[in-house]
Amino acid sequence: MNCTVTGVGLAGFGTVGAGVWKILQQNNELICSRSQGTVQMEIRKIAVRDLKKTRDTDAPANLFTTNLEQLVDDPSVDIVVELIGGTDAAFDLVCAALKAGKPVVTGNKALLAEKGPELFTLSQQQRTPIYFEAAVAGGIPIIKALQESLIGNEINSIAGIINGTSNYILQRMTEAGLAYPEALQEAKQLGYAEADETLDVNGWDAAHKAILLGSLAHGFLIDYENVYVRGIEKVTPLDIRFASELGYVVKLLSLVLKRENGEIEIRTQPSFLSKKHILASVNGVFNAVAIKGDQVGESLFYGRGAGQGPTASSVISDLVEACRNNSSERGFLPTDQKAALLRLITPRLLTMSAFP
Ligand SMILES: NC(=O)c1ccc[n+]([C@@H]2O[C@H](COP(=O)([O-])OP(=O)(O)OC[C@H]3O[C@@H](n4cnc5c(N)ncnc54)[C@H](OP(=O)(O)O)[C@@H]3O)[C@@H](O)[C@H]2O)c1
Repeated sequence: MNCTVTGVGLAGFGTVGAGVWKILQQNNELICSRSQGTVQMEIRKIAVRDLKKTRDTDAPANLFTTNLEQLVDDPSVDIVVELIGGTDAAFDLVCAALKAGKPVVTGNKALLAEKGPELFTLSQQQRTPIYFEAAVAGGIPIIKALQESLIGNEINSIAGIINGTSNYILQRMTEAGLAYPEALQEAKQLGYAEADETLDVNGWDAAHKAILLGSLAHGFLIDYENVYVRGIEKVTPLDIRFASELGYVVKLLSLVLKRENGEIEIRTQPSFLSKKHILASVNGVFNAVAIKGDQVGESLFYGRGAGQGPTASSVISDLVEACRNNSSERGFLPTDQKAALLRLITPRLLTMSAFP
């Protein structure tokens, strides 16, 4: 089949970046034939920090560089994939790519939640899109669900378990009666928690994702300083026992709620979830997002929220979309000038027995 070849510049070749390479090695023909010959991708440059690191792929050494700018400057690179993480070098890279008219694919929720206003404005000015399916809930296609499948709905609520590390720790505290430090230690030993677990357990990783979902659902850029965020570090076995006796489980829940006055409430916090609630059965490192639309009613998205294959699978879907449709309208565009965020400074006990 005669496909157009698109040059990809990969920034980052860690868990997700190497996953993208592997999928393209394995399934490029499949992608080409499914896209009816319109899409074939070739990775033409890979930026990493350490050229000497041993890598478990057959990527040729001549593709590697430590210079991120080369991805933007190389004329054979058409699309830049940002998978280095963080908000500094990643911000500079994404800005430079957009200014050069190269679409960006990223899995970096922290970058988009904290610097979304600058980046999406630049994307709009440059008419060059940013795709970010991998930034929320790993392999679950939740961004496209909101952008496409549910476009005919007013979104009344989104409730998500969107941090697998916290979910695993709370599950072990519930099932095995472990205290938080022991459960965290176990999660680290099994590779479910990073060496630096801060953003996972303090709620901010989930909050970044909730901010992105809230922006997409309600059409305005959300100021991350005005959302309510509490992590799981202070949850005790006693909290979990009391919850259980009252018929609840404790979960780190992220909520995006549309209030009657139209204001949008966004919270991430440990919450009491009825044992009968559909999200109560989401265990381990799995994620789930329950969305209530005014037409569709309740719908549930469930799957692996992180990991090499699932996250790279989302990156690939964005890459294919970028190849097919080189237009800024597919990224994020503010659409509701009147939308307002409820400024959340007060705690409140969250209990859920049904869809909100
Ligand atoms: N891992 C997941 O399951 C997952 C899920 C969803 C979203 N994400 C997001 O995806 C992104 C990547 O995550 P990851 O887990 O793949 O990270 P990772 O395993 O730590 O890999 C990061 C990669 O970026 C490279 N890098 C870092 N800083 C760099 C710089 N300044 N210049 C050039 N290269 C640089 C590193 O190079 P070296 O290899 O030389 O160190 C490494 O290859 C993050 O934004 C993360 O939040 C990850």
